Amino acid sequence: MRAAADHEYTIVNRNALLVTRHPIVVAASEFIDHRQTTSPDTRRAEELAAATCLPIAADDQLHNALFYLYWRDQKLTLRDQSTKNTVDICIDFCAGKHKHRLQFGGGYGQPLARAINAKANETDNTHKVCDATGGLGQDAFVFASLGCQVVILERSPIIYALLQDGIQRAQQDQEMVNIAQRMKVCPMDSRQLPGNWTEASLPATVYLDPMYPHTAKSAAAKKGMQTLQRLLPLEHQLSGGNPDPDAREEQSLLLSALQTATQRVAVKRPVKAPALPGPAPVGSIKSPNTRYDLYNAQDY
Ligand SMILES: C[S@@+](CC[C@H](N)C(=O)[O-])C[C@H]1O[C@@H](n2cnc3c(N)ncnc32)[C@H](O)[C@@H]1O
Repeated sequence: MRAAADHEYTIVNRNALLVTRHPIVVAASEFIDHRQTTSPDTRRAEELAAATCLPIAADDQLHNALFYLYWRDQKLTLRDQSTKNTVDICIDFCAGKHKHRLQFGGGYGQPLARAINAKANETDNTHKVCDATGGLGQDAFVFASLGCQVVILERSPIIYALLQDGIQRAQQDQEMVNIAQRMKVCPMDSRQLPGNWTEASLPATVYLDPMYPHTAKSAAAKKGMQTLQRLLPLEHQLSGGNPDPDAREEQSLLLSALQTATQRVAVKRPVKAPALPGPAPVGSIKSPNTRYDLYNAQDY
């Protein structure tokens, strides 16, 4: 049928596909008729459906989905309907909170900057950082704003699409273009990190921020992360994987990072959480709620 043919459809008439059961879909704002030339909006939805391997649903079927992707004010947006209060997530590096962080975010003295070893005299794009768990790109944006050249890896096709859209829009923004040009995103499972680099492109630092269990404390502040915590296990389950990362997966992520970084691996953890399974960190940097565990990659 369509690119996402593995998913379940009910055909309601000769031309239209009505998605009845798939919990994650791409919204198409108009009736889908294969015999007619489609509009640019529908083509855009079809391309996204093919890239994310999700089925398309017409507007009047969206209430059946737990999550759907759509364009809101020309920004690719994930609507989370899996919870009582619907949440919309998009990646907008040009929004006020990112500009605010640029002005008041703490510069090179902030724990996140120290964790990746960013230095004020390296504003010439020479410090290469790989953010191997891209998420909503908030940490990657800080690295790029500190002058680092950042390769972001993200294995969820949905989150990858949101990141790509956010970076492309930021590259069109006069104020953000220089920062956005230092960010590149690749759709990849970071456990395949080693072997995907030329000698010259190897990152000095690999940064990891794997998902950790949702806590009540994070609930109020971070709606975007809560949506990821609901979406990603479902996405993994639908593609036949484990809903939650297990210790073996976390350890293999850490080992891949250690084999790739030329200098350092930094892992973000909640302040009281244990270190990732695997080799012990050689040090850590603490802030009130977060700890960055540091590993010397030259030992691996
Ligand atoms: C907690 S979020 C990262 C948040 C991010 N630091 C930020 O500032 O927005 C974790 C992300 O890592 C991604 N991820 C987890 N394991 C991965 C892997 N093995 N390869 C690539 N991405 C992975 C998840 O899909 C999720 O989007």
